[in-house]
Amino acid sequence: MKKNRIHIIGGGNLGAAIAIGLSKFSPDSEITITRRNIQPIQFLEKQNIRVSADNTLEINKADIIILTIKPYQVETVFKEILPLVKNKIIASAVSGLSIDTLEERTCRESSIVRIMPNIAAQFGASATCVSYSENNHEAGQKIFGLFSLLGTALVIEEKLMDGATILGACGTAYALRYIRAAMQAGIEIGFDAQTALAIASQTVKGAAQMSLEEKVHPEQLIDRVTTPQGCTIVGLNEMEHQGFSSSLIKGIKTSFDKINKK
Ligand SMILES: NC(=O)c1ccc[n+]([C@@H]2O[C@H](COP(=O)([O-])OP(=O)(O)OC[C@H]3O[C@@H](n4cnc5c(N)ncnc54)[C@H](OP(=O)(O)O)[C@@H]3O)[C@@H](O)[C@H]2O)c1
Repeated sequence: MKKNRIHIIGGGNLGAAIAIGLSKFSPDSEITITRRNIQPIQFLEKQNIRVSADNTLEINKADIIILTIKPYQVETVFKEILPLVKNKIIASAVSGLSIDTLEERTCRESSIVRIMPNIAAQFGASATCVSYSENNHEAGQKIFGLFSLLGTALVIEEKLMDGATILGACGTAYALRYIRAAMQAGIEIGFDAQTALAIASQTVKGAAQMSLEEKVHPEQLIDRVTTPQGCTIVGLNEMEHQGFSSSLIKGIKTSFDKINKK
């Protein structure tokens, strides 16, 4: 089978997570990852990932270029790579960088796909949103297939990409804050920190798995855990009295307002 040759530019939090995920879950991929200071990602070489400070290193051999740089780093990178990316797929995870802008900058000579993965790609557990224009359907489906190996991939309209950034990418941080709070409460009711963390994390994973597999409204699953007058419902109601759902919704909307103002 033909190997995917993947060139990831921006070996930071997301780029490294994607590289590790691909090395584990896409054995047909040959991966290069670049950043200016390669020292923090040199360990990836042990996983058969080529690491370089040269964004153009054998880029001519790559089929897919994944951009995982910050928006303000895009212009510098474009100056180096634009002459070399004709007829290649560019999958960009750069928040706020539109398909139109990318198509214009590449003179419509590359196939542009926007992606919004999260750092759980490293564990094959990302929720990756993918968007592309109809004239790049084949490239879009190729990237969709690749990111399906790293978790769940969903094709969305481009206008929802900011929302996907908040719900899917920032969402990792919101979920971890829940785990931290549950862990702290667990310590208060008698567990040591490690045990509390293990219980809180696995319980979230189990709840997520139920929700993903049963595909019903979460409240239907909550009904299975709550006994009338029991300890679950009194705790849940107290959380709501304290604004649990409301604070989550307000937090997500505040993040969304912020991304729209940028
Ligand atoms: N983190 C997430 O969970 C997440 C999720 C979805 C989308 N995103 C998006 O992904 C992008 C990257 O986010 P991040 O959190 O991974 O940021 P990050 O950790 O800062 O990674 C960016 C990387 O780009 C490298 N870089 C900077 N200039 C470069 C250049 N000229 N050539 C090559 N590499 C260069 C930086 O390393 P050097 O300074 O050493 O070059 C850095 O390691 C952003 O646009 C973000 O919105 C992030």
